[in-house]
Amino acid sequence: MPFDIKKTLEDRWGENYSLHERHVNPQFVKVLRTIGFDKVYRRAEGQYLYDGEDNRYLDLLSGYGVFSVGRNHPQIKQTIKDLLDLDLTSMVQMDCALLAGLLAEKLLSLVPGLHDTVFFTNSGTEAVEGAIKMARGATGRERILYLDHAFHGLTLGSLSANGNDEFRSGFGELLPGAMIPGNDLTALEKELKKKDVAAFLFEPVQGKGVYVAEDSFLPEAQKLCRKYGTLMISDEVQSGLGRTGRWFAYEHWGIEPDLVTVAKALSGGFVPAGAILMKRDVYKKVFSRMDRCVVHSNTFGKNTLAMGAGLATLHLIEEENLLERAERLGRLFLEKVRETCGHFEMFKEVRGKGMMVGIEFKSPKSLKLKAAWAMIHAANKGLFGQMIVVPLMSKHRILTQVAGHNIDLVKLLPPLVVTEHDVEYFANSLAEVVADCHKFPGGAWETGMMLAKNALASRKGVEPKDVTLEPVLE
Ligand SMILES: Cc1ncc(COP(=O)(O)O)c(C=O)c1O
Repeated sequence: MPFDIKKTLEDRWGENYSLHERHVNPQFVKVLRTIGFDKVYRRAEGQYLYDGEDNRYLDLLSGYGVFSVGRNHPQIKQTIKDLLDLDLTSMVQMDCALLAGLLAEKLLSLVPGLHDTVFFTNSGTEAVEGAIKMARGATGRERILYLDHAFHGLTLGSLSANGNDEFRSGFGELLPGAMIPGNDLTALEKELKKKDVAAFLFEPVQGKGVYVAEDSFLPEAQKLCRKYGTLMISDEVQSGLGRTGRWFAYEHWGIEPDLVTVAKALSGGFVPAGAILMKRDVYKKVFSRMDRCVVHSNTFGKNTLAMGAGLATLHLIEEENLLERAERLGRLFLEKVRETCGHFEMFKEVRGKGMMVGIEFKSPKSLKLKAAWAMIHAANKGLFGQMIVVPLMSKHRILTQVAGHNIDLVKLLPPLVVTEHDVEYFANSLAEVVADCHKFPGGAWETGMMLAKNALASRKGVEPKDVTLEPVLE
């Protein structure tokens, strides 16, 4: 009997969480159940997800930024179907495939004249790993500088450039380098001066915390890097390919990084794909002789489906004017959130560039709320954000996330195809949720206590029902 994927899906429908609990990541299942995100989605279209009862959810997370053109875009689906129907070769390896050449040509044309060589990868972290390796190979230096709060992936090389101890600790010795506080040129120069730094690796808009580099920081950093012979790597895995209103976020600062990494949105969310764009000079120093032509390589990087989906995605971003849309609707997110939430005591600010938006909250002044705030933070420094994210899902069917440790932040990474109506719906829903958080006692703080209990129980390795919050309240 031939394998029937449709039948398999129907037969096993609803076993999602029990299977993951048994075989994949039971801790993650626990988290999803605790925050009420244990939904079984049946289908998706554009910026929306649908569950078994056909309830619609507004997805402002877009698979961590993968579905920029929206989910299940018909043009990308058609491209993949066409590719399958053509019975093309893929990964012959000892040939030069047309689609990889075409996608490289297209990627390099987005900012003409800056880069001339592309290396294809299967993920964001692999792109960052490759860029670090190229920088080390090209300079003969070892150290990598990275920023506070940085996130570049979680394999060992990219983890070495992670700006959060929560991710780094417990995995032993990482690559040599140093962390630079955001926007601190003095600290940067102090490290560059040692002349042992291969690269300064940065996200122009940081995914964790949605911190946007100050106007002068990156241009000045570029001058310093050039002065001391250090390469610049702009990690655009999240911010690239239109998300901030430009093809690459670094363009907002008018700089010319030596290497650029992309992934996430590159193939429209269908096939894992990433790339490193680099100057020919860097390439030549690493792939320096014929016997070094595959000194860095992989097996799946240039596969046909990823390359075809990549071409279709870049075409769509242009055809649907998504750069302009990201900029315009990103600004609308900021305006609408300020309009509906700006007056709340615990609202700190909304910031971002294009469709990378962070909404930060701050400690209240009134006594009752202050005590509740202190209790939640004593249990876990990032819990307050969950008090927003949880009701946004349970009451308004909006998918958002907290992003960053020790920060009261809700992050939006919407598909670039969201509409004005979606933005308004989000801003009004957020205002309702934030208003509830300003009532103590009340439902929002009950959710907070439940989350706090779970956080403490998990830390102590006991059941939440065995945890009391009294000691935390003192
Ligand atoms: C800026 C940045 N770099 C690298 C990565 C790692 O990408 P991946 O998850 O595909 O390995 C991410 C993922 O979120 C990212 O945001």
